[in-house]
Amino acid sequence: MSDATPLKVGVVGLGYAGTTHAESYLGIPGVEVVALAGKEPERLAFLGESLGIPKLYSDWEDLVALPELDIVSVATPNALHAPISIAALEAGKHVFCEKPLAIHADEARRMGQIARANNRVLEVAFNHRRRADVQYLKRYLDDPGIGEIYHVRATWKRRAGIPGLMSWFTSKSLAGGGALIDLGPHVLDIVLFLLGEPRVTTASAAAHGALGRAGYGAMDKGAQFAGGHTSFEVEDLASALLRTDRGQSIQYEISWAGHTADDEDISIELLGVEGGARILVKRYATDGTLTIYRDINGEQADITPAVHVVDKGHPTVIAEFVDIVRSGDWADHHGDTAVHRTEIIDACYESARQGKEVVL
Ligand SMILES: NC(=O)c1ccc[n+]([C@@H]2O[C@H](COP(=O)([O-])OP(=O)(O)OC[C@H]3O[C@@H](n4cnc5c(N)ncnc54)[C@H](O)[C@@H]3O)[C@@H](O)[C@H]2O)c1
Repeated sequence: MSDATPLKVGVVGLGYAGTTHAESYLGIPGVEVVALAGKEPERLAFLGESLGIPKLYSDWEDLVALPELDIVSVATPNALHAPISIAALEAGKHVFCEKPLAIHADEARRMGQIARANNRVLEVAFNHRRRADVQYLKRYLDDPGIGEIYHVRATWKRRAGIPGLMSWFTSKSLAGGGALIDLGPHVLDIVLFLLGEPRVTTASAAAHGALGRAGYGAMDKGAQFAGGHTSFEVEDLASALLRTDRGQSIQYEISWAGHTADDEDISIELLGVEGGARILVKRYATDGTLTIYRDINGEQADITPAVHVVDKGHPTVIAEFVDIVRSGDWADHHGDTAVHRTEIIDACYESARQGKEVVL
């Protein structure tokens, strides 16, 4: 393949994620979105018309069966990520899948194995990692660095932000879990990326769902098409202490809802022996989100790089994915790091269930 190889894409899902996928591909020269699938007929017709997508299906199976597709993009409820991705990989397509890769690590590992066996790319939408503040901090950590990083505090907290109360989002079987499996993969991805991919070895977690079960905490603008589920079977808050194979500790807390001042706040705080750094994103702020803490000439100094965040990263991560597909060099792109994130989330759920630390 070359830089300009024409590629044909099919997108499954018509919500925020599916729409963002389709729009992101359409911005890339030589990439054509030829098919779209989803269960909402009016939205399907609207997107087909407005984005110029000719082939429209209600069922993902019909889309995956199209022989002309090079790429399938998966933006459905979490439990469908594995079956759709596996069918697409087995049909020889490259797959771009929403987070979480799967609702259980064993499924995620299978997806990776099938991608490898078929020599196809399996990439996950870790779009928040592409934020300019995260990328800047990664470059800073590489050089000059903040010394050995020994502890991380990482949170994403919402005051009332359950994306689809009484929808697939709050169904254990369709979502796999609640806040932790929804927002948690992004936070974990940023932390592990910044730390240079250590392996997490233990997890000790607690999970709570009292607010969601009481019907509190629905997000104003939740998932567009989610609905039809009648109970809240997942957690609205999870908190964990993780340890890595490098002796680091990670205090990790994710919540969809809580009676707190923090509302849609993402915070990643790294403590190193020569300095510290914090990304604090309040309500998707785009400026002033990164501070680096050092002692300079005997005085405490706070450095605030003028980094501007352009978007939430989907166009960038999808452009990177297309570049990988076009490069023809797919050996390191079978979803391995995404699989480890599902293992950590599984371990957190297991620890919360057992009420004790779990070894990965
Ligand atoms: N990376 C991010 O920043 C980000 C943001 C939002 C959502 N997501 C992820 O994207 C996924 C979708 O989330 P959403 O908010 O768009 O959800 P949503 O409920 O709004 O949309 C889900 C879509 O899947 C379709 N679907 C369900 N079953 C189907 C089937 N059998 N065949 C074809 N289509 C089917 C539905 O019709 C719907 O169009 C989730 O996994 C979520 O975690 C990621």
